[in-house]
Amino acid sequence: MLKILIINGHPDLDHSVSNKTIINTVLLLADENNCSSDIELRSLAKLYPDYKIDKKAEQKALLNADIIVLQFPFFWYSVPAILKLWIDTVLEYGFAYGKIGNKLHGKKLLLSLTTGGPEDAYSESGRNHYQITDLLRPLIQTSNLIGTQFLEPIVCFGMPNIPGIDSNHEIIAAKAVEHAQKLYKIITK
Ligand SMILES: Cc1cc2nc3c(=O)[nH]c(=O)nc-3n(C[C@H](O)[C@H](O)[C@H](O)COP(=O)(O)O)c2cc1C
Repeated sequence: MLKILIINGHPDLDHSVSNKTIINTVLLLADENNCSSDIELRSLAKLYPDYKIDKKAEQKALLNADIIVLQFPFFWYSVPAILKLWIDTVLEYGFAYGKIGNKLHGKKLLLSLTTGGPEDAYSESGRNHYQITDLLRPLIQTSNLIGTQFLEPIVCFGMPNIPGIDSNHEIIAAKAVEHAQKLYKIITK
């Protein structure tokens, strides 16, 4: 089986509903199918509470992977700060891009994200004016530059977890399980 690396970019997984459920469900499915050893989970905020990312350790994990999953909640139409810092730090010249920076060439890259906004908000006539794939363009181009094979992102819309905003955690957790099943299928096929 292919080696899967999941980079968890949630800044506070303990207080997450969706991302925590997605990650736990994927790990459970892997366990049930006896392939836990093929999945490495790196939870950035837990590994680096001081935001001092160990570049070499992260690059080593990337080298070992066939599929790289970036799992994150959509924050301000982008990735959370710790995931952006991971990108800035780890995908360095000479490793991920540049004349000899070919270390990630050919690996698969999958974005798996959750949004607070519903799907219809992500359209020209919707509240967010743009489709999600338009907003993900910087990551699509990052993938182009580092030579990874960009898989179609999987997006779990309508999963708000924001203090002060009403949300039904049971419904959200159920949607997150469905998302995890989809994610698991993609990364293990
Ligand atoms: C700082 C911050 C920024 C956010 N920005 C967006 C956004 O740009 N678009 C959106 O749809 N949801 C946004 N949200 C909602 C989160 O995407 C949502 O709460 C998250 O996906 C839920 O995942 P969790 O249960 O794992 O925390 C934001 C939430 C926070 C806390």
